[in-house]
Amino acid sequence: MIMVTGGAGFIGANFVLSWLMSPNAEGIVNLDKLTYAGNLANLETLEKDARHTFVHGDIGDKLLVAQLLEEYRPRAIVNFAAESHVDRSIYGPADFIQTNIVGTFNLLECTREYWGNLLGDEKRQFRFHHVSTDEVYGSLSASDHAFRETNPYEPNSPYSASKAASDHLVRAWFHTYGMPVVTTNCSNNYGPYHFPEKLIPLVILNALDGKPLPVYGDGQQIRDWLYVGDHCSAIREVLANGRLGETYNIGGWNEKANLEVVNTICKILDELKPRADKKSYTEQITFVKDRPGHDRRYAIDASKIEKELGWRPAETFDTGIRKTVEWYLDNPTWVKGVVTGSYRDWLDKQYRN
Ligand code: NAD
Ligand code: TYD
Repeated sequence: MIMVTGGAGFIGANFVLSWLMSPNAEGIVNLDKLTYAGNLANLETLEKDARHTFVHGDIGDKLLVAQLLEEYRPRAIVNFAAESHVDRSIYGPADFIQTNIVGTFNLLECTREYWGNLLGDEKRQFRFHHVSTDEVYGSLSASDHAFRETNPYEPNSPYSASKAASDHLVRAWFHTYGMPVVTTNCSNNYGPYHFPEKLIPLVILNALDGKPLPVYGDGQQIRDWLYVGDHCSAIREVLANGRLGETYNIGGWNEKANLEVVNTICKILDELKPRADKKSYTEQITFVKDRPGHDRRYAIDASKIEKELGWRPAETFDTGIRKTVEWYLDNPTWVKGVVTGSYRDWLDKQYRN
């Protein structure tokens, strides 16, 4: 089987669900701390699936991680667990240091011990896959070439700095201890199960709720959007065929200014769920104070993963964003659980006894 960390969050849950779509898939042990961003409703369809074992816990818990590795003997670990929201990192960076840096360090150390004791094929085939972000490369100007794997790390937010630190640790565990690692640096994701503190789900849900659609600064910041299903297929590809010690950039070739993204969502909603007054949802767009240290532009040059592994995204922004808006319209129960906070009830139920 494989071990996934952070598999109750947005991308981790999409990865677990897509992995287990295949009838011959190996099982998954899924270690997640269930922070505010972890939501077991994302994994509801797996409740009766014996191939999925959920473990509530922290990647920073050495005893627990060591015990899970011994018990489940995974042939690979895919590390999604992280604090992931830039705005939260500005207001409270401590959790980012703890999970993204110390937690990854702990996971690497436990893995080194476990992998060190494997023999033969088990040892040769083992992989530690670290899931990271393009934000480690800093900010581009309008004329800069998109981020290549060789770009220097220039993180600007506490979030990206903590992810950069974790990438450096992973790299060092390869060079120093020979651990079989691969790292992927992906651009902004969107799609089903995205927690509505991030731009795209926030705009969809605020629009439907008649609330303002907050656009930071002038709305001309650029992100390179990738549909989450494409990120998951890229991870599967790198896990299977990526070269050890390498990093692979993953992106959708979809650079868009934030204001354009918000306008596109409004247009789709105007068509699928028109406002009662027949006016456009764009009426709700509200320019608000900019984020401190806001990176102007991210863009990924994804040629390496395409040339080496033949991976390309299946979705364009137009197809992916439409699917995403439709998913939020089709899943009111999930939305309600997140908006009311009732998705957190599982923790109360679990620990009341
Ligand atoms: P998320 O915030 O939705 O989910 C993170 C998950 O990790 C949650 O389920 C949370 O409970 C869990 N978690 C947090 N701290 C933990 C700990 N100490 N131990 C165990 N579990 C813990 O994040 P996401 O958007 O799904 O991102 C997943 C990974 O992908 C992160 O490493 C992030 O840096 C990276 N990434 C995200 C994006 C994006 O656009 N969202 C883009 C590129 C890379
Ligand atoms: P976000 O989804 O937080 O991802 P990241 O900061 O990791 O790129 O934000 C995407 C872009 O949208 C970013 O440039 C900040 C901007 N943004 C807004 O304009 N308004 C908002 O309410 C949010 C949450 C983000």
